[in-house]
This record gives sequence, C-alpha cells and structure tokens, in this order.
Amino acid sequence: MNLAGQIEQYLPRQLMELVKDISGQAANLGQKVYLVGGAVRDLLLGYPNFDLDLVVEGDAVKLAQQVAETSQANLLAHHRFSTAKLRYENFTLDLATARKETYARPGALPVVTPGTLMDDLIRRDFSINAMAISLAPNDYGELIDPHQCRNDLEQRLIRILHPGSFTDDATRILRGVRYEQRFGFEFEAQTAQLLKRDISMLDTISGDRIRHELELIFREKRPELAVNRLGDLGALHRINPSLKGDAWIAEKFDKARRLKKPSQLPSLYFCLLIYSLRQRDIEQFLARLNIPAKLSRAMRDTLRLKTSLPLLDKSSLKPSEIYYLLREYEPLAIQANAIASDSSMARRHLQLFFTKLRYVKTALDGEELKRLGISAGPEMGKVLQMLHKAKLDGEVSTRAEEKKLAQSLSLKS
Ligand code: CTP
Repeated sequence: MNLAGQIEQYLPRQLMELVKDISGQAANLGQKVYLVGGAVRDLLLGYPNFDLDLVVEGDAVKLAQQVAETSQANLLAHHRFSTAKLRYENFTLDLATARKETYARPGALPVVTPGTLMDDLIRRDFSINAMAISLAPNDYGELIDPHQCRNDLEQRLIRILHPGSFTDDATRILRGVRYEQRFGFEFEAQTAQLLKRDISMLDTISGDRIRHELELIFREKRPELAVNRLGDLGALHRINPSLKGDAWIAEKFDKARRLKKPSQLPSLYFCLLIYSLRQRDIEQFLARLNIPAKLSRAMRDTLRLKTSLPLLDKSSLKPSEIYYLLREYEPLAIQANAIASDSSMARRHLQLFFTKLRYVKTALDGEELKRLGISAGPEMGKVLQMLHKAKLDGEVSTRAEEKKLAQSLSLKS
C-alpha cells in the first residue's frame, strides 16, 4: 500500500519538503528514514498530526548533524539515546536511530541497542502505533506493516504486540486507555485480559512516569473519559486507594474546560481529581507521583480552602471580607473550589475574588501619600490598607476620592 497521496493530503507541503531533504541526505549516506508511530496511525485514520517521529536505519545523530549544517535547522542531539531534534522555523522533527529494547526488570527503563526498523516496530506499545512509512526516494510512501497492524486500526482495536508488554512497561495501561477513549476503540480480548491481570504492575512505575502519563491524559479533549475508565479498571485505585473516576469528576472537568485555557488545564484537573480525598490520601498521592512543589502547594491549598468554605457561604460578606479570606490561597485552589464547591454562594464569592477582587489596586501609592504629608512606616501601611479596603468595597473609586479619604485618615491618626 502506498500512502504518498495521503501524505500530500494531510501533511503540510513545507514540512514534507524538509522530510524529503532529510531522507535524500540519508540515502546519500546509505541510510534509510521512516515515518513511524502516531503520525502513521493518524495519517491512516485521516486525522491531522504534524508531530512527526522519524526512525533512521543508520545513525540519527550524525544524519541530523549533517542536515543542521546544510539548513536553517537548530539541532538538539542526545548522543546517549541516539536521538536528535531538528527545530525549523515552523516545525520540529524528532529523529531516532532504529533500536532494540530489552527490559532488565518490570518497570525499568529499557536497555537500548541499535537495531533494524523491524526491531524498532516490535518494541512498541500497541499495534496501532507500530507501523512505518518509507520516506526513501525510491519507495516513498510505502506502508511497512509486518504485524498486520492496519487490520487492528480498521477494526478499531488496541492490541499489545506481546504478552509481556504491560509487565515490561505498565505505563502502557494508562497509554492504552488514553488511545481507547480518544479514538473510541476497544481493547482486543487478550489485551484486555492481560491489562486486568497486570494492573498491579503499576507499582513498578516511578512517580514521574505515572505523572507524565496522567498529564498526557489531561491534555486530551475529554480526559474524564479515560479517568473514569481507569477507575473502572482498578488502575486509579492502584495509584491511590481513594482516587475515583465518576460522574462528579466528569461534570467538574467539563466545567473546568469552559473556564481555563488548554495549557493551564492539566494542573486544574489535578486539583479536581484529589478534591474528594482526605489530607492523608492527598499526601500519599503527592509523594507517589512526585508532584512538583508549585502544584503540590496548589493541591494542598485546594483542600485547605475546601475546609474553610463555610466562611464564604454568607450573603452578607463585603468584598473586602472575601478578599481577606482568600488572598493567601493559590489561584488554582480558588478556581478548583469555584468549580467544585456545592454552595452556589461560596462559588459566587470565589469567582468574584478570582475575576475581580484580586486585581483591585489603589490609585495612590506611597510616594503620593508622602506628598500628602503621611510619613513612611506603620502609619502609611495602615492608610494604604484602609484605602485598599475602601476601594474593594466601592466606597472610593476615583483618585480624588482616595486623596480625600487619605487626608481624612491622616488627620485622625
Ligand atoms: N512508545 C512505546 N511505549 C511507550 C511510549 C511510547 O512503545 N511507553 C512508542 C509508540 O510507538 C508511540 C511512540 O513511541 O507511537 C511515540 O510516543 P508518543 O510520542 O508518546 O506517542 P505518539 O505516537 O506521538 O502518539 P500520541 O502523541 O498521539 O499519543
């Protein structure tokens, strides 16, 4: 099967010119270049994916170095992994030397040795990701599918390539569910059985790798589908016994999407995921996933604020009171609670703080107060605070009103 037509239809011409240049240079060195992985899968499915992974039968780093010397590309080489990234103005290409992988023990990072394209395909997670397209000038566009993976794609099946796949690398449990839910595919029967058998293998995976896979899930359009499925399969329970995927999570994730830019969503999803957990379980989760300090702070704050929400559940609160109750919390914790709280009053107050109150500033600053005769130090601090409070509560709005209030405050003190 030749896919040159699909390449032309779905991939930008400018990008393919770069790829053809690389492949031509490889041919001159007696090397072959293939398109592999997700880009091949998506080309066959007819989905746009410009995130191209190239496998080189030969030496990817040497090839990339040569390409970088003769083009505008910026090179980032990893000699240890025999991989290289070429950054062009509008595109990035990942090159890797074809490799064989062996796993010394479950969950360990694989030991990598140079190999052929066939070695490189059989080491992969799922059949839908284990096809290649030749980019060599003499058979450009030819699909290479030694394991009849295209059948699985047509039958909408997620299949592992050997029975030890989840034991070798249990992140594939999370990856598999991500693909299953993204594409609306199903696990092939034996794969489903092995996945259930190997759920406990998640214990062999480092926190960083589990967190990375959850982040990938959180970049999906509707991550709640994968979260719920991981809950049903017992994978969430394995990561933390109190984690759940349910209709509540689904509703809150959906709400989060309407408020946040996609790039900021993963952190907010993390805060919502742990919203129903007790402090002890949150600590276990933070440690298990080695969550970085900033996000840990936001997640702990989410729970701390949740326990203080009754204070916000009063209609009589002035804006300044809301401000002083909330100003110490991480913005993410405020947003998570604004989405997740059961009290509509508390939600309204959180939203008011998040969208307005936290940005309120006085027009006058210390220098101007000095000019009004107020001396620097505790007195000025007090006046500034009173001005800010009055501004929050709408008692002053113009500069002149602030001046008047500052003067009357300084006379009193
Ligand atoms: N891969 C694997 N096992 C993993 C991770 C990755 O076999 N634990 C392989 C898969 O063949 C995958 C390729 O490496 O296709 C590249 O991985 P990644 O960039 O994560 O996935 P994409 O193929 O780009 O697919 P997507 O981004 O759509 O998930």
